[in-house]
Amino acid sequence: MKTNQSIAALCLGTLLLAGSLLAQEKPIVSANLALTPPMGWNSWNKFACNVSEDMIKSMADAVVKSGMKDAGYVYVNIDDCWQVSRDANGNIVADSQRFPHGMKAVGDYIHSLGLKFGVYSDAGSKTCAGRPGGLGHEYQDAIQYAAWGVDYLKYDWCHTTTQDAKASYANIRAALDAAGRPIVLSICEWGTAKPWLWGKEVGGNLWRTTGDITDRWGGQQKWPDGSCCSNGVLAILDQQVGLQSYAGPGHWNDPDMLEVGNGGMTDTEYRSHFSMWAILAAPLIAGNDLRNMRPEIHDILTNKEVIAVNQDPLGREGERVAKNGDLEVWAKQQKDGSRAALLLNRSDSEQEIAVSWEDLGYPASLSAAVRDLWQHKDLGKMTGKFSARVEPHGVVMVAVKP
Ligand code: GLA
Repeated sequence: MKTNQSIAALCLGTLLLAGSLLAQEKPIVSANLALTPPMGWNSWNKFACNVSEDMIKSMADAVVKSGMKDAGYVYVNIDDCWQVSRDANGNIVADSQRFPHGMKAVGDYIHSLGLKFGVYSDAGSKTCAGRPGGLGHEYQDAIQYAAWGVDYLKYDWCHTTTQDAKASYANIRAALDAAGRPIVLSICEWGTAKPWLWGKEVGGNLWRTTGDITDRWGGQQKWPDGSCCSNGVLAILDQQVGLQSYAGPGHWNDPDMLEVGNGGMTDTEYRSHFSMWAILAAPLIAGNDLRNMRPEIHDILTNKEVIAVNQDPLGREGERVAKNGDLEVWAKQQKDGSRAALLLNRSDSEQEIAVSWEDLGYPASLSAAVRDLWQHKDLGKMTGKFSARVEPHGVVMVAVKP
């Protein structure tokens, strides 16, 4: 017969075992993804539906050869139009003309270069280009993506009729996790249902905050048919004001992919576009043809000092700290206590712009080292403020380090 003491010990042991089993809950496979803003390349801005195995493979080669990989770009993402139908079992079918060896072969090639593989689908019944969407096939598709070695899924919002955005994105995240492969989830809902309020909770790693970017400098304009709206980079920038507190490691505001190098803006404007995205802690997803970049475009996309601002491990999104008409100052706190500051001249003439230490959250009396991140030059120690002449549509970007 057991003594009271041994029965008590047995009960305690059972409790401890149950407790430790609970504590060892299965880790979520998608935890720790995108701890800094994702960097890579996506087909849409330049190629739209004109995607193919050959083009994607040669672009992946170019990511490596151009030095983009060394600069931190890792995802090679195929956007809309790789898919054509579903088979009798409901499996998604890739375009066999354009992807003759199937999607896994493309993923394997991308992985063989030390890069990561992204695809695109849609939460509704069809993608924005009218291809089959994911609705009702979320778990089946997630298993397929995992089998292909997909590392990143951009999930769009066309043809969703009465669907609830938060529930739809929670569903695809649960499906991806159930498939067992860590996959970055890029929520592409255009900001309509304020995804910054719920994107992190449903396991989104980034969420679009606006409609699509156009390769244009200016503000919002109606499309020729009268519908709303074409967003130039300034229009997109303005829509980021006030969203900074929602971003952080693993979950980022996404002001859409880069247009740098696509031909619609001057090199000065592209430098400004890239600097804005860097200070916003935005995903840096290039959207140009990397196989034949001009050196000026290459030097913008691979500026390691500007990229370091974007990739700072503290994960703070920068914010606008001063505005005087067309002259703005944006600032971003970095992990080492320094600040990145962007002096932005939106006007059509050269202007003097100053950033005061107080705007950066420093006392005016502080002496701080200033470094120009585009000139790659130390400008010396300064007290109270830094000012510079800024070209029209241009920026001066500095690091200010006490
Ligand atoms: C939407 C998205 C774009 C792109 C296209 C593809 O417009 O916002 O980024 O993915 O669909 O059709």
